[in-house]
Amino acid sequence: MGQFKKVVLAYSGGVDTSVCIPYLKKEYGVEQVIALAADLGQGEELEPIRRKAIDAGASESLIADLVTPFIEEFAFPAIRANGLYEGRYPLSTALARPLIAQRLVEVAKDLGADAVAHGCTGKGNDQVRFDVAIAALAPEMHVLTPAREWGMSREETISYGERFGVPAPVSKKSPYSIDLNLLGRSVEAGCLEDPRISPPEEVYAITTSIDDAPNKPIEIEIAFESGNPISIDGILLNPVDLIKKANLLAGNHGFGRIDIIENRVVGIKSREIYETPGLLLLILAHQELESLTLSAEVLRTKSQLERQWSELVYQGLWFSPLKEAIDAFINQTQNNVNGSVKIRLYKGNATVVGRHSPDDSLYLPSMATYGDDDKFDHRSAEGFIYIWGLPSRIWSAVRNKQKK
Ligand code: ARG
Repeated sequence: MGQFKKVVLAYSGGVDTSVCIPYLKKEYGVEQVIALAADLGQGEELEPIRRKAIDAGASESLIADLVTPFIEEFAFPAIRANGLYEGRYPLSTALARPLIAQRLVEVAKDLGADAVAHGCTGKGNDQVRFDVAIAALAPEMHVLTPAREWGMSREETISYGERFGVPAPVSKKSPYSIDLNLLGRSVEAGCLEDPRISPPEEVYAITTSIDDAPNKPIEIEIAFESGNPISIDGILLNPVDLIKKANLLAGNHGFGRIDIIENRVVGIKSREIYETPGLLLLILAHQELESLTLSAEVLRTKSQLERQWSELVYQGLWFSPLKEAIDAFINQTQNNVNGSVKIRLYKGNATVVGRHSPDDSLYLPSMATYGDDDKFDHRSAEGFIYIWGLPSRIWSAVRNKQKK
C-alpha cells in the first residue's frame, strides 16, 4: 500500500466511482486521484459530474470529449461488421469501453501517473473490457479496482461515501442500472431481474411506445460509401449528426427496443433491455446493401466472421490480433458497399422496401428477369445439374446395390 502516488480514475459520477476517490486515498494510500469523465454523447451535463469528483476529493477532474472518435472509430466499424452479439445486441455499451480505456492510458502517461483505476464490480462485462484493453495498450500499467475488492453492500458504499464528501443518491433513486451513450441505453436490475415481467414503459427514454408512435408510416433513404453511412434522405451528415438523426427517426417510430437474456463473459445470464434505434436501423440498412453488392461466398464468410467479431468486442478483445485480422477482411469487402437503402418505419418496425447501387450492384436484371429480356442460358443448366448431382447419383446407386 502507498506504492501509488498518482492514479487516473475512469469516472462516471455514480456512487461507486465517486466512492472510489476517497477509498483510493484512504485504503490504498494514493496521494492524488485524477478523475476522468468521458463524453460519449450521453447528453448529460458534464460540469456537475466534473465538480462532483472534486467534492469527493479528486485533485484534478477532467472531461474527455470522445464523441467523434466514438462514432467514427468504434460505431462505424461496428456497422460495417453488422456487429450483433448473439445475433441481437448491437454492442452499444461494449463499444465505448475500449475507447475510454485508451484515453485513460493516454492521460495516465501524459500526467506521469503510476496507475489507472475504474469502479466496475466483479460481476459485469465492463471490468473485463477495461482490464483487457488496458493490458493490450499498456501491459506495464497497474489497474486498481476498488469496487471489485471492497466487498461493501450498496448501503455500506453509500455511508462510506457520505463520510468523505460523496452525497447519497438524491431521493428515491431509480431502481434500474442504466448505461447511456450516443448509441443507446442499456437498462438492467429492478423488476427487470424477473425475466417473466414485461418491461414497464418507464424503462424507455429514447424510443416511443408502439401505442404513441405515429399512425402514418414514413419512408427514408440511407446512403453508404465504402460501408459507412453518409446521408439520410439525400442530406449529407457527419458521422455524429448521422447517428443522432437515425436515433430520432427510428426512435420516434418505436423501433430499436430489445429485451433479451444475454450471456455475460463471467458466465452469468442476465436480462437486458436496450434501446439502440439509430444503430440497429443503420445495421439493417447496411446488411441490405451488402446483400446487393457482395458475392454469395463473401457474404457467407463475412457473416461467420461477424459473429466472431461481435463476440470479441463483447468479451473485451477490441485490441487483439484476431479482431485486427477480421477488421482487415471486413475493410476489404467494404470497398464495394456503395449505394442506398429505402426503409419504411412504422409502429416499432423498420422494413426494407428498396435498395440501389449504381456501380456495385451484382444484381443483373438480364439474369434475374422472367421477361423477354432474359439472357440466362436455360439449357446450360442441364449440364451443370448433371455434374452437381453426380455425387448423389453415385451414392444412391451404391447404396441400392448394398441392399440387395
Ligand atoms: N450488458 C451490457 C454489456 O455488457 C450492458 C451493461 C451496461 N451496464 C449497465 N449498468 N446497464 O454491454
